Amino acid sequence: MNDTSPTFLWGASTAPHQIEGNNVNSDWWAREQQTPGMALSGDAIDSYHRYGEDMRLLADAGLNAYRFGIEWSRIEPIPGHFSKAELAHYRRMIDTALGLGLTPVVTLQHFSTPKWFADEGSWMVESAIDRFARYVTEATSILDGVEWVCTLNEPNMLAMMGTMMKAAEAGGGDWQSPTIEGDVQMVLPPPDPETGHRLARVHDRAREILKERTGAKVGWTVANQALTAKPEHQARLVEERYVREDLYLEAARQDDFIGVQSYSTQEVDGNGPVPHAPHPDNTLAGTAYRPDSLGMAVRHTWEVTGGVPVLVTENGIATGDDTRRIAYTDEALRHLGAAMDDGVDVRGYLHWSALDNYEWGHWEPTFGLIAVDRETFERRPKPSLAWLGGLARSGKGPTS
Ligand code: FCB
Repeated sequence: MNDTSPTFLWGASTAPHQIEGNNVNSDWWAREQQTPGMALSGDAIDSYHRYGEDMRLLADAGLNAYRFGIEWSRIEPIPGHFSKAELAHYRRMIDTALGLGLTPVVTLQHFSTPKWFADEGSWMVESAIDRFARYVTEATSILDGVEWVCTLNEPNMLAMMGTMMKAAEAGGGDWQSPTIEGDVQMVLPPPDPETGHRLARVHDRAREILKERTGAKVGWTVANQALTAKPEHQARLVEERYVREDLYLEAARQDDFIGVQSYSTQEVDGNGPVPHAPHPDNTLAGTAYRPDSLGMAVRHTWEVTGGVPVLVTENGIATGDDTRRIAYTDEALRHLGAAMDDGVDVRGYLHWSALDNYEWGHWEPTFGLIAVDRETFERRPKPSLAWLGGLARSGKGPTS
């Protein structure tokens, strides 16, 4: 029997740029205008104004946690100028969650940054460390009563975007969505290791500030690809794992928790990652249907971090078929339960995503427990929301 205490977090996750709308001071907003063919985020799903309704739907379904982000580019639209009104907005979100009985899990940076920060060189320059530290220091003013804080979302993906930005600057390669494999079979380039090491220092500094000024548990969230290889490619597997994942997991060894984000598996051969072959079971994001990836990701994370408590901060499936979403999640949770049976300390499960949203340049891959009419912004909960809420209400953790 796994964790049956009421403190097991059952919830859903979102990111500000994907749901808020009109995030006009961010680097992503600019990139959307500049990249031919890229879908615009526009109003997104207007969660900036409708967050209360969104949270109420989650709480009414029975969930007890909500992971959301605060948007740096709104809080610091101009270097060194902090908006008190935007800080108050995010404080209201925290209060709303607490008032509804949802434990807030707050992400300080989820892919998007202020445009000015990107213009300065983003995470690829040393000044990033001080810039982020200054923002985090301001952000601590609204974090009273928040128990879980994620500093950076998927630093390994941020470093991978660094590789793409460097290539684009050098005139090679188009911008590629970080989360969609696309029509052409392609694999994401490796994260830039120099940027990765700098991000680890960004995180260390942020953790120090948060530990000094708040009572929150601090961690970051890592994209886990559940890499696999045939016996003859083990050496390459170890290399790829280090560059794509383990560097970031090792950097979490001093943390209070590690956020695990898992969707599918990725095979590696002698040349690196192998593109997913087209298959009728592939998800709308182009990845293979592999609910077992969550168990693999959690076990690998536990091993590399040396036993840092795990919070599943993202897991889900891009599908238009909600029955398939339930089947995928049900199986993923069984694998999670099995890892817990084997001793992995898992504190919660936060499904990606609460709502169908703007998927970094695309609208088609829908991950939500709640559908949204993009003309009227009407929210329509899917059966998967009630199903997941039911598990939460049972008062038990995942079971194998
Ligand atoms: C993750 C991102 C999240 C979302 C999901 C599908 O890599 O953190 O914002 O795009 O993938």
